[in-house]
Amino acid sequence: MLARESAVMKPHVVFVCLGNICRSPLAEGAFRREAALIGLDADADSAATRDWHEGKAPDRRSIAVARKHGVNISSQRARPLRSEDFARFTHIIGMDRANLKAIADMAPAGHGAHLSLLLDHAPGRAGQEIDDPWAGRAADFERCWAEVLEGVTALAAALKSH
Ligand code: 4NP
Repeated sequence: MLARESAVMKPHVVFVCLGNICRSPLAEGAFRREAALIGLDADADSAATRDWHEGKAPDRRSIAVARKHGVNISSQRARPLRSEDFARFTHIIGMDRANLKAIADMAPAGHGAHLSLLLDHAPGRAGQEIDDPWAGRAADFERCWAEVLEGVTALAAALKSH
């Protein structure tokens, strides 16, 4: 895709983490709600850099924290990121630097997708990571939700203003 096309194209955003069961499902769910709230016409999906959890629902702790904040992510199913995604999506967004490196490593030559960290979109937080909460406690999932929300809110606003 050419840069001048991406400026006018409907955004297609895929959020990516290691397993697609903790962080990126939260990002997909929170972004969908934020887009609806501000009237942004965008497609959203999420994916994993590994295929370990393919077909699984999000981690119950992610489902719980999202539900607590009014978002239902229970029907999402994990899937790995695929090379076709670099043509299908305008924005491929990693949660941490390892995700971003894995995304960049599998990117086909000449692809047109914009690659970034989620927190690159949040004012003053460029380069910062959303840590994997998988081995953590409920409080880690709460912090993860708050950081994801910060990133997707700023991202949706930026895409809306284009
Ligand atoms: P996520 O968290 O990348 O935010 O979905 C993880 C989920 C599972 C594993 C690691 C991280 N795992 O090792 O199975």
